[in-house]
Amino acid sequence: MGLDTIIRDGTVVNADATWEADIGIADEQVVAVGDATRFPDADKVIDATDRIVMPGVVDPHVHVADMFSGDTYRTATAAAALGGVTTIIDFGWQAWTGEMSPYDRPASLIEGIERKQEKADEAFVDFSLHGGITREDPAVFDDLKMAIESGVTSFKMYTTYEMGLSYGFIDRVLEQLADIGGVAVVHTEDPTICDTRTDMLRAAGRGDPTDYPDSRPDYAEAVSAATVGRLAAEHGAKYYGFHTTSRKALAELERVRSEAGPETIRAETCTHYTALDESVYEEQGNLAMIAPPIRPSADQDALFEHLRRGTLDVVSSDHCGYTRADKDVDDWWDSAFGANGLQTELPVFHDEAVHGRGFSYPALVRVKSALPAKLFGLPRKGAIAPGADADIVVFDPNTTYEIDAADNASISDFTLYQGREVTGGVETTLVRGEPVVEDGELVASPGHGEFVSREPPEWTPDTVLQ
Ligand code: URP
Ligand code: ZN
Repeated sequence: MGLDTIIRDGTVVNADATWEADIGIADEQVVAVGDATRFPDADKVIDATDRIVMPGVVDPHVHVADMFSGDTYRTATAAAALGGVTTIIDFGWQAWTGEMSPYDRPASLIEGIERKQEKADEAFVDFSLHGGITREDPAVFDDLKMAIESGVTSFKMYTTYEMGLSYGFIDRVLEQLADIGGVAVVHTEDPTICDTRTDMLRAAGRGDPTDYPDSRPDYAEAVSAATVGRLAAEHGAKYYGFHTTSRKALAELERVRSEAGPETIRAETCTHYTALDESVYEEQGNLAMIAPPIRPSADQDALFEHLRRGTLDVVSSDHCGYTRADKDVDDWWDSAFGANGLQTELPVFHDEAVHGRGFSYPALVRVKSALPAKLFGLPRKGAIAPGADADIVVFDPNTTYEIDAADNASISDFTLYQGREVTGGVETTLVRGEPVVEDGELVASPGHGEFVSREPPEWTPDTVLQ
């Protein structure tokens, strides 16, 4: 049998090793890793001389086509592919009604998951969904098991915003998830602290984006992460802390993780928290209104300490497809929360972590590909090995370019990294063996991306290579 593709002469990186090898691909999978002179011939050969060949990024925190994103699957996953992201996990929301809601009537979690799947027929990269719980209706408990049977094995909850849940209801969900093996992914900021401080600042006439971090302080994040972590530990439920930003929240997560173990407590940060500090509010105003806020540079240092120690497992994008017009409101306090990041997350994090802070390539693969695949039950993603899906990025570690929103495939007409020069860029992205990006250009047709059904994961302890 001939091969479809051979990637030759690259430096292959997995989370546990770096070595010189060729890769053989057939029927969407990696079938050989070794010396291509021993492989059968292939229809296509990709020359990866002087390139890093790594598993595609698995991004478990991406907002597409809902209240936090004007992107369609076509635009968001084009951005993903151009940025070396080969699998995203988006959200299927239980519909609720309210000011932030795009829905006209409440609907079940299962309907929310099906509704989102119907929007995804133009995906360029593979995708999965978290179920999103937005209402304190015990009827949702019956849906959790059905969702897991349909391949949706993780569930998002907010502690804040109008669809935030009380700690009491989160406690009940965690108890159920512990029984059925599901994962809770939670946005943790204490709502009473954030709401009170926001009201106080607004009443005092504080009216500048530089005031924003004071409205959602690091201790509000720490209080909430500690509470949800404590509840998860009590039930032995798997809890993955979304977008961790601060030393204080990390201390709480580390404490509960040391008690309950990595079988129960995991966490991520996002690229923007690692690559930007709070001066972004002076420089970019409410374009950077993201919850939790971007913190002082001392917190950036803390994120890297905890990425190395393993308290932080993953670096995601929390991509939100907003435009300048979405952010351009009379009172910036009413601005939309979130910013785009799918297309830039790998180059920016590579530049910051590998070039700037001496992170190794295996460590990069660990936090961008291997651990997100493991923690969210994607056994065929996140590694280059025989039998894995051929989701592969050929990355030029030495090219230098300037980030410009004019290159965005997302509907977002801005980037928080405008004008930033980064070293390292995505050249080729394969999704299940098919070139979706070649020479930095989108070459596939929309619709190649498939829904990936997930199993409840095992969170065994990991080996952390620096
Ligand atoms: O500001 C953010 N992070 N927007 C996305 C919604 C959320 O909070 O997760
Ligand atoms: Zn969030």
